[in-house]
Amino acid sequence: MNKIDVVLGLQYGDEGKGKITNQMAKSGDYDYVMRYNGGGNAGHTIYVDNQKVVTHLVPCGVLHGIPSIIGSGCVLNINNFFIELDYLEGLGYDTSLIKVAYNCHIVTDDHIEEDSKDVTIGTTRTGNGPCYRDKVTRVGKRAEDFKELSQFIIDISVGSFSGKILAEGAQGYWLDVDQGDYPYVTSSNCGIGAVINNGFSHKEINKVVGVAKAYSTYVGAKQYQKTDDPLFEEIRKVGLEYGATTGRSRQIDWLDLNELSVACMRNGVDHLIINKLDVLEQLNCWKIYDPNYSINKILNFESKDLFKDYIRNEISSVCSGIEIEFQESPH
Ligand code: IMP
Ligand code: MG
Repeated sequence: MNKIDVVLGLQYGDEGKGKITNQMAKSGDYDYVMRYNGGGNAGHTIYVDNQKVVTHLVPCGVLHGIPSIIGSGCVLNINNFFIELDYLEGLGYDTSLIKVAYNCHIVTDDHIEEDSKDVTIGTTRTGNGPCYRDKVTRVGKRAEDFKELSQFIIDISVGSFSGKILAEGAQGYWLDVDQGDYPYVTSSNCGIGAVINNGFSHKEINKVVGVAKAYSTYVGAKQYQKTDDPLFEEIRKVGLEYGATTGRSRQIDWLDLNELSVACMRNGVDHLIINKLDVLEQLNCWKIYDPNYSINKILNFESKDLFKDYIRNEISSVCSGIEIEFQESPH
């Protein structure tokens, strides 16, 4: 029986999951770190001893000498996988720790070419959608089909594997293909169910750490902002809100406390971390969408403490027993 702690994004990706996974991996408590969904569309920015490391596929366990698995819920482009391995080796990391689930699907050049023609969703053009489509229509190719991956292959299905696992999600709950604002979603499940689909029992899940930011961001084609505010441009600059994979400017909005509460409930979040409080502090602006109104009503707090107290009370009222922690940017 494994013991799995999960790090899951509660907004639209880019909540700072990489930073939190890295903090947890460093604790030395885990035998494995595993990515459970997504592929090259994700970009995790991590600071290790002041060195900035950006990964797309490989989980951050490898930065701490922990075996790191790309799970069966993920998709992988072999060329980009080897490029990332070279990059990590160049930084001095031991890439022999990296494993790939035998049933992880492979993103081909054709998938990438097809995805790069997307004009409606604003995808990351990394071939994810076409690859997951081929998986579902049963014409895809899996890691086990490629000789060059043979040294990395692992089977993580129930019973054949055991340990303490840190499971790291990609994207965020509101980009989930079932639960998000379809069709403006990614092609995989990003919520808690996706962890189990990598070959585990729900009884193996020990703790769920949900990660959010003190404001919201989204990258993609839809009009995301519910309001406009000159401060959004400031937040983008101070918070460095540009895509790690595509470099696109992220759309900015205030924290939607209703969305955050629902995401905490549906994913059974035990521990909520709200990142980047320092960005709002620098602008001295404490606004949120109040969850108690169906029409978007913005609340404006006079101080950081009032902002934090309101969030704590609202989230705790719908998720009893949840631990809530506020953190700052990593840089
Ligand atoms: P795809 O996942 O590349 O198909 O893109 C679908 C949608 O998800 C687009 O709006 C992307 O911008 C968004 N998306 C995919 N991956 C990420 C991510 O890691 N962070 C933020 N948005 C993402
Ligand atoms: Mg990201």
